[in-house]
Amino acid sequence: MQTTPNDARTTEDVIDLLRAQHGRIRDLFDLVMRSEGEERKDAFHELVRLLAIHETAEEEIIHPAARRIPGGDGIVDDRLAEEREAKETLSDLENMDVDDPRFLKTLDALRIDVLTHARAEERYEFDRLKDEFSPAQLKGFAAAVRSAQATAPTHPHPGTESATKNMLVGPMAAVADRVRDMIRDARDKG
Ligand SMILES: [Fe+2]
Ligand SMILES: [Fe+2]
Repeated sequence: MQTTPNDARTTEDVIDLLRAQHGRIRDLFDLVMRSEGEERKDAFHELVRLLAIHETAEEEIIHPAARRIPGGDGIVDDRLAEEREAKETLSDLENMDVDDPRFLKTLDALRIDVLTHARAEERYEFDRLKDEFSPAQLKGFAAAVRSAQATAPTHPHPGTESATKNMLVGPMAAVADRVRDMIRDARDKG
């Protein structure tokens, strides 16, 4: 994973934007690990939200295009398996107190897996995909991801006791729906 000078808020190319999000995801993992209590809880929720936005955007934009490059199916199936596993670990984490020692251990394992996954995406997908999209598509998708990020639900909260189990899964699903809708709109317009 590498940090690029591109700013995720202004870049007009969705691949650059997703690459910049990899850098932000890495920084958020670090922030969760070195904070505690409420600050750790907030950073963790921000991380979960960004992961929901980011992985949904990749599932809608990047992976389908990567299937068209030679050997693409195997590459994409591997990435999707990694994404599924990460989602399962995230839902284990939601059932733990952020100050539980198991939380940090599990989060650290997830951090390593997610960063390895991101490096594989950059190498096997991002770097090979520029020719699969027109400049207008790269720009249209970037705008869709940015506005989904600005408007998707921000504050997961537990609600009633019976809803606690879904406190992240629910908002994650809502965030993913929002991103998917905006990307599909952009695709229809393009
Ligand atoms: Fe991914
Ligand atoms: Fe990614």
